[in-house]
Amino acid sequence: MKLALGCDHGGFPLMEAVRRYLSEKHIEVEDFGCFSTESVDYAPIAAKTARAVAEGQADYGVLICTTGLGVSMAANKVKGIRAAVCTNELSAEMTRRHNNANVLCMGARMVDETAALRMLDIFLGTPFEGGRHQRRIDQIAQIEEGTL
Ligand code: RB5
Repeated sequence: MKLALGCDHGGFPLMEAVRRYLSEKHIEVEDFGCFSTESVDYAPIAAKTARAVAEGQADYGVLICTTGLGVSMAANKVKGIRAAVCTNELSAEMTRRHNNANVLCMGARMVDETAALRMLDIFLGTPFEGGRHQRRIDQIAQIEEGTL
């Protein structure tokens, strides 16, 4: 498994914990930064991270900003991306089971490190259920195409 990572200055402290955790688990990453608390714009970083997932260079993306909101809005503009802001274990599980989310977005001021790493584990370990949920995410794609 390979993950694409991206954060802004607000997400940097939590992303550092995610980086350490993924390194301990020997999970390969493509890291689009940032690498300090110096102020940066989140949209270009979210775009690069999301494109790496959409183009198949990574299986999933992890995006972190202060709230998770800005990076999710930016990532969801990339065709084929289903980015979900998760704030608890249930949201991380259900967005994989029902939405086949391919980018996990979190907010460094919304969740603590323990919760974030738990959500990451759940997100990566939960399969998509398919069935009626496939029809529903196909409809989301139709919105993207302008046919719904
Ligand atoms: C940066 O100040 C903050 O706006 C950003 O991290 C993010 O939370 C935006 O949605």
